[in-house]
Amino acid sequence: MSQITVIYGSTTGTTQSAAERIAQKLNARCVDIASAKAEDLQTPVLVLGTSTWGFGDLQDDWMSAEKLLQDADLSGKKTAFFGFGDQSGFGDTFVDAMGILCQTALEKGAVLIGKTSTEGYSYGASRAEIDGEFCGLALDDANQPEMTDARIDAWTEQLLKEIG
Ligand SMILES: Cc1cc2nc3c(=O)[nH]c(=O)nc-3n(C[C@H](O)[C@H](O)[C@H](O)COP(=O)(O)O)c2cc1C
Repeated sequence: MSQITVIYGSTTGTTQSAAERIAQKLNARCVDIASAKAEDLQTPVLVLGTSTWGFGDLQDDWMSAEKLLQDADLSGKKTAFFGFGDQSGFGDTFVDAMGILCQTALEKGAVLIGKTSTEGYSYGASRAEIDGEFCGLALDDANQPEMTDARIDAWTEQLLKEIG
């Protein structure tokens, strides 16, 4: 069984496609948070993905399933995050939902892996920033769709090194 589970929430399918590519690169299971069970969060490594909706809100299925994350034992678990947003249309809440998930996981003792540089993005503010870096991989198919696959490929390579 894979040691890595990718769990995503996606409203129009963008985050789902990325999750499937990420899971394939990591040889991981890929699970929609809408149908996830507590056992799905028990692998040694988790990769959690969400788009941002409203003004800086979690994707709906994640919102409904937040308790699953709250109840999970994440202490010492290597956990990575990715998120879709729109840096031009929602420049002050860019990929905020990724930051919300990350904050919850860190409070529960998760070990953060997969931070990335904010270079190459143009936005005003993001809850997904920690000490000047993104807490995970920020993706933007509204403005930079041509960069998504290359960003995923580089990031999954980075994750494999950090997982060891
Ligand atoms: C009504 C609406 C609200 C949105 N709010 C935000 C936001 O606050 N911050 C952000 O970065 N992106 C925002 N987005 C952009 C979405 O996150 C983006 O379209 C994403 O690719 C959707 O992914 P999904 O299809 O996997 O849910 C919003 C999009 C819509 C249509």
